[in-house]
Amino acid sequence: YGSKISESDAVWLAGRIGKAYQPDCEGNNTDLDIDNMPSECGFAYRGDFREPTVVTERADGASMSRYLYASHKISEGVFEPAGLPHARRGDKTLYVTLRDGFSDTEIVLYYTVSDDSDVLVRGSVIKNAGKTALKLKKAFSFCTELFAADWKLLKLEGNWVAERSPEITDLGHGVTKIQSLRGASSHQMNPFAALLRDGADEFSGECYGFQLIYSGSWAITAERNNINQLRIQGGVNDFGFCWKLGAGESFHTPQAALCYSSEGMGKLSREYADFIRERIMPPAHAFSTRPIVVNNWEATYFDFNNEKLFAIIDESAKLGIDTFVLDDGWFGVRDSDRSGLGDWVVNEKKLKGGLKAVIDRCKSKGMKFGLWFEPEMISPDSDLYRAHPDYAICKKGTTPVYGRHQLCLDLTRKEVRDCVVEAVSKVLRENEISYVKWDYNRDLADMYSESLPADGMGEFTHRYMLGAYDLFERITSAFLNILFEGCAGGGRRFDAGMLYYFPHIWTSDNADAVERTRIQYGTSYCYPLSAMSCHVSVCPNHQTGRTVSFDTRGAVASLGSTGYELDISKLSEQEKQKVKEQVESYKKIADLVLGGDLYRLCDPFEGDRFCEMIVSKDKTRAYLAGTRTKYLPRRNSSHLRIYGLDENKTYKITETGDVVSGKVLAAAGIPFRELREYESFVYHIEEVKKK
Ligand code: DGJ
Repeated sequence: YGSKISESDAVWLAGRIGKAYQPDCEGNNTDLDIDNMPSECGFAYRGDFREPTVVTERADGASMSRYLYASHKISEGVFEPAGLPHARRGDKTLYVTLRDGFSDTEIVLYYTVSDDSDVLVRGSVIKNAGKTALKLKKAFSFCTELFAADWKLLKLEGNWVAERSPEITDLGHGVTKIQSLRGASSHQMNPFAALLRDGADEFSGECYGFQLIYSGSWAITAERNNINQLRIQGGVNDFGFCWKLGAGESFHTPQAALCYSSEGMGKLSREYADFIRERIMPPAHAFSTRPIVVNNWEATYFDFNNEKLFAIIDESAKLGIDTFVLDDGWFGVRDSDRSGLGDWVVNEKKLKGGLKAVIDRCKSKGMKFGLWFEPEMISPDSDLYRAHPDYAICKKGTTPVYGRHQLCLDLTRKEVRDCVVEAVSKVLRENEISYVKWDYNRDLADMYSESLPADGMGEFTHRYMLGAYDLFERITSAFLNILFEGCAGGGRRFDAGMLYYFPHIWTSDNADAVERTRIQYGTSYCYPLSAMSCHVSVCPNHQTGRTVSFDTRGAVASLGSTGYELDISKLSEQEKQKVKEQVESYKKIADLVLGGDLYRLCDPFEGDRFCEMIVSKDKTRAYLAGTRTKYLPRRNSSHLRIYGLDENKTYKITETGDVVSGKVLAAAGIPFRELREYESFVYHIEEVKKK
């Protein structure tokens, strides 16, 4: 795991590591050497004093373990963990079986590699090979050890409306932990970490990436021991986790996608983008042209009727927008966020003629129709709750924790999932719907299910996520023609697990163009641009109050799956003309957003500029968009260095007329356009073929 080396070097390295750390498992006094031994699976209470990777407890309460190599095999293709999102494709998988005679545990660590990818997929299967039940108290997905270096940890921290800000810190001695305990991968911390070696940055140096293909409570820890070795590992959060493993039973961990780059974070991100598009996203949609949507949420919130929606539809159709998405408020009694969730039946008092009237209007204008759901939730004021109060997560006799006035459904129960699948599918079956926005607006609390035994509550949080994945799978696979957009109060659940079902996700409830430069920049560290829904919204912006030109909003929203989140019918004629032009120009670069390589040229967290470029795989075309995020006079370089083109090709920048080689564009760059605060620019770059 790292830079590619020859087989003979690998053999030499293995021999050297073997001698330096020779463990003695027979119990004489050299035993404690294993405390420093690089391990692929750390164990508990038997001489390795670092945090373990897997912990089991026998019926007699003993938890000591030491997993030793037993055998291995290499097979074609991938391993598919039961009920979990996973890499769909890979060349070969190495399976290493470890056994521990004491705890009767058998662990199969697996590693999937592919010649055309620098992403290594890891996971494990933990089996109770004994005759009595075991408790599995920790079951991380991967463990990797790296040698001494000046490692920096890059994490993506954030909040609602400020998701995924890169934060780089030193790694001191001891354990550094990043995690979510919210039952969702979370706004606050993304299930991703990178290690940057000895001053690595965006463009150069060695970086290691660690990304979980998981959407529930997770943890990644980095432990630097006193001889400066680093153990990094992660998986399902072990806080409160306890999984009963009967004799012969197995637990499949979620997968982790590990990546290595010797050319800085930029290359790491491009590897991850390819991995997610080619191996994680649903193949039917991963590279298919995304619709340009108009969503009515910020246009109307809950206050809409046929007339208001028709006005948006009619104007949008004229401007080339192809899909209208009806957001929250169309069902049950739902005029605010206090009621109605769970009642997936159209409110005909609000929408005369039901969904059909809106769909017919879309069709008559040549548009497609999309619909919002929040299937995992229930409002206490709903018919569903009145009929099945027990479907909500809540311990009887206690007041549950509310979030946005709503409760979560107990998805650990099959009958609850069946009820949701039927209610949502009925709407999808009976209406012509080509797009679904699947929302999730609170974190999980009250981790308790009446259906689990008293000693089974440690399974609840992970079982919730398995239940949610079952819902996603059943509904998305039954409606393959529908494009499912993920959403969770914006970016609460933006992770590779969700992208397995939802090829793009509403990146943040903050659609202010300036804030979006930062949110989209951070998100692009490990997810492709096409995974991000990026909409132009109204000004003054509803979150920040900021006013930014239509051009700048369009430029920033063009760096993802674009759309509009405003009342198109209320725009001025000049603004409508802008929408028309933006839609036309986006269609010309949509293929780059879907399949190109991203180069982050100016970091909006530093200095006062943001600039990103997408380059076609064959490096004949590129699209570049940038803006000035704040005005700091003379604080930036006067030139924009354009990295990522082919050094040996000559290019023309349409907007400036410059004709110059990729080599000079990277080394010297072009003069930075003088920009006022929040002003933006876009460049279309094309190869000039030699005659
Ligand atoms: C949160 C989402 O992020 C918004 O876009 C919108 O769909 C609301 N929920 C609706 O309640």
